[in-house]
Amino acid sequence: MKNIVVLLSGRGSNLEAIVRAARAERWPAQVVGVVSNRADAAGLAFAAAHGIATAVVEHTRFVSRQAFDSELQQVIDRFAPDVVVLAGFMRILTRPFVEHYAGRIVNVHPSLLPAFPGLHTHRMALAAGCKLSGATVHFVTAELDHGPIIAQAAVPVLPDDDEATLAARVLQREHVLYPRALGWLVNGLLQVNGGCVTQTLGEPQWLC
Ligand code: GRF
Repeated sequence: MKNIVVLLSGRGSNLEAIVRAARAERWPAQVVGVVSNRADAAGLAFAAAHGIATAVVEHTRFVSRQAFDSELQQVIDRFAPDVVVLAGFMRILTRPFVEHYAGRIVNVHPSLLPAFPGLHTHRMALAAGCKLSGATVHFVTAELDHGPIIAQAAVPVLPDDDEATLAARVLQREHVLYPRALGWLVNGLLQVNGGCVTQTLGEPQWLC
């Protein structure tokens, strides 16, 4: 069994989707730990209720990003992770941290990267008059919301959308996309060639 560690800062709806898929699809992997930088993250309660170990590393206790990341890494590594999953983890990570998990750390971002990295993605997509938006699952590199793209889901942007309605439509797709991409990863079905990731069985790496 491979070990998955999920990092989150809040709600944890992607965590739920991943835990459910791992169990229902009998992945050769399980979520063994959930780590948060916020003690009040709802995702921690879901994890605990499902028998998954939790840990909190509050970023406010650290004087620098380096110090926080170094403690975070120690906590994560106690779970002997094969895969580290960022699921709404609202911290910028330092290069040494990201490089420590190179090739085994992934993120979901609520835009069609490389468009709109960072915060307020839906606001920016609406302001730009985008007709499509979506979500991206990618390997994490030291550059924020950047890295080889594993899969993307597109959704329409409707004329009467606001940030909340667009976010909800995208999130619903994330719950399909992220488990699918992780399932491929833990089953050894991804090949990375430079910046390009291929699903080796030829399954579509997009959802519309
Ligand atoms: C998602 O929109 C994800 O794309 C972003 O943070 C949000 C996390 O939501 N990175 P949840 O905590 O998984 O419900």
